[in-house]
Amino acid sequence: MEDIDRLLLKLKGYYFDHLSVDIGFIENLDDFEIREDDVFIVTYPKSGTIWLQQLLIPFFEYNFQKIYLGKRPSPGLLSTHLSYYLVPRGLKNKRAKIIYVYRNPKDVMCSYFHFEKNVKLQFTRTFEEYMILFLEGRVLRSLWFDHIKGWYEHRSLFNIQFMMYEEMKKDLRGSVLKICKFLGKELSEEDMDTVVRQATFENMKYDPLANYDKIITTAYGTNVKGHFLRKVTIGDWKSHMTVEQNESFDKIFQREMKDFLLKFIWDVN
Ligand code: A3P
Repeated sequence: MEDIDRLLLKLKGYYFDHLSVDIGFIENLDDFEIREDDVFIVTYPKSGTIWLQQLLIPFFEYNFQKIYLGKRPSPGLLSTHLSYYLVPRGLKNKRAKIIYVYRNPKDVMCSYFHFEKNVKLQFTRTFEEYMILFLEGRVLRSLWFDHIKGWYEHRSLFNIQFMMYEEMKKDLRGSVLKICKFLGKELSEEDMDTVVRQATFENMKYDPLANYDKIITTAYGTNVKGHFLRKVTIGDWKSHMTVEQNESFDKIFQREMKDFLLKFIWDVN
């Protein structure tokens, strides 16, 4: 596993990808101007980032385009996997809105394992090996536990709404309503239907944009095997992890999250 340091780049205590990181940008994040009506999607990878993007982009088309985007050409919707302490200073004074999506870390780990295996030709790890790295935070974007704890424990610095992937899967319409409320937007029934329909797995599965096909092939080449949208099941970890692996994961989870207040209901289906 000694090739980790060759593949990952640690900057400001956080693992980035050698291929895609813009070091100058990361070094000077505080210079990035945050605007009052920017909306940030914050996730640890494989937690539903593109799903949220799919939900929110139509909001901009329906509601913001003439009023807001016309006035300001810069994108109003931004996504990031950054840890709380790395984001531009402007975000910490509650200037913009943040939606943080989290997901059962066991499913995150399985999704991430497949993603790495499918997109990176140099990836040769077994699931067992990958689990060790994931639980040590020696993966792209570092440790899952630190990511969620950091954001949640510092939530008072931000204007932030937490959303759970599993709840979105169970009740997408209810989740869209929650997001609307947070953003102070009202959608007509018709627009709501369109937003929900566009963000269903069935609609997104074969959409090259939703699968980031171009971005992935640009970054990793054309031999990529899989898609961003893979199985979309809750509890996929059950088909990957042995009883022992599950027990040792649980033990670490309990230790890391014992004082954590955010609600987790993983197996909702
Ligand atoms: P799986 O690999 O378990 O299928 P991210 O966008 O943060 O990389 O997250 C990717 C995960 O979100 C993938 O999980 C993907 O299938 C899932 N996802 C994307 N769109 C979804 C949708 N409409 N409904 C449910 N899950 C979705």
